[in-house]
Amino acid sequence: MTTVTVQASHTYDVKIARGLLASVGQEAARAFRGRTAAVVSDTNVAPRYLEAVADSLKGEGFRVCSFVFPAGEEHKNGSTYLNLLEFLAQEHITRADGLIALGGGVVGDLTGFAAATFLRGIPFVQLPTTLLAAVDASVGGKTAIDLRGGKNLAGAFYQPKAVLWDLATLATLPAETFADGCAEVIKYGMIGDAALLDKLEKIDLAADPEEVAARCIAQKRDLVEQDEFDTGARQLLNLGHTIGHGVEACSDYTISHGKAVAIGMTLVTRAAVSFGLCPAAVLVRLTALLEKYHLPTATDYTARELYEKTLSDKKRAGDTITLVVPVAWGRSRLEKVPVGDLLTWIERGLAQ
Ligand code: GLY
Repeated sequence: MTTVTVQASHTYDVKIARGLLASVGQEAARAFRGRTAAVVSDTNVAPRYLEAVADSLKGEGFRVCSFVFPAGEEHKNGSTYLNLLEFLAQEHITRADGLIALGGGVVGDLTGFAAATFLRGIPFVQLPTTLLAAVDASVGGKTAIDLRGGKNLAGAFYQPKAVLWDLATLATLPAETFADGCAEVIKYGMIGDAALLDKLEKIDLAADPEEVAARCIAQKRDLVEQDEFDTGARQLLNLGHTIGHGVEACSDYTISHGKAVAIGMTLVTRAAVSFGLCPAAVLVRLTALLEKYHLPTATDYTARELYEKTLSDKKRAGDTITLVVPVAWGRSRLEKVPVGDLLTWIERGLAQ
């Protein structure tokens, strides 16, 4: 088992190993003072893993209730969130009890936001079941739901009590969903880990997911410990996300987050090359690496369409937006860009 300890508002462990779902009961017994655990999951994940999780919790003496909502980003909304809060109230959940998020990023974000706000805060444990959630969404305490005006616009910073990634869940992950996680892994490499990129070029990520994920989570841990509330260094984790969120929004969220991030990384790197900030060879290697992991590197949306959608991005502050710009293989930096210049960045990113 690999353990990465995160020291944020409180200290917690991120554990990676095969078979961890069977130990969630013991983890919850450490994390929650009360005797009720509410498991939140979606219609893709619950049929596979809810019973095993509930059995583990019951084995430690918990009363278990579960809230299962339809799978998909379109359900990470205010209506599902309020239904979940009403469910917790009906189940008489107290501040001593806890929530278990069993699923991918949508489940983790929604459950975390409910945990942050129900009774002004109750504990929760993350059980990510996708690569993307394991390496990124479940760690670091960003919780949110989407609004009609944009993705993740209502949320809170609220750290989990523990994160357990059971590697056995990889076996049931559709190839498309695995590819989404690969985009986030490549993002970590591009931010600050050239050796990880070299490794991903040489081997297949699926051959060594534990070491690769631990490396990504350790990098995230370092950034979260420096900047838990996302006012500085943590923003590096947004590489590819500004234009990526534009791609997602233009597609009405039919293009998944990981694929949109892959496109966003390619475009911002191409723009950085054209501004003379990044060697052209980086773009060539990045594009080849994304393609190796079955990720897209281009979009048919116009610069104007993408620009309009990025204007509602959270990363915008007044008249500037902070872009994450690759400057070398395995190195990126933050660049404050006037919002008016963003259109030029996107145009240069699209230029072939
Ligand atoms: N997913 C980016 C962050 O947690 O900051």
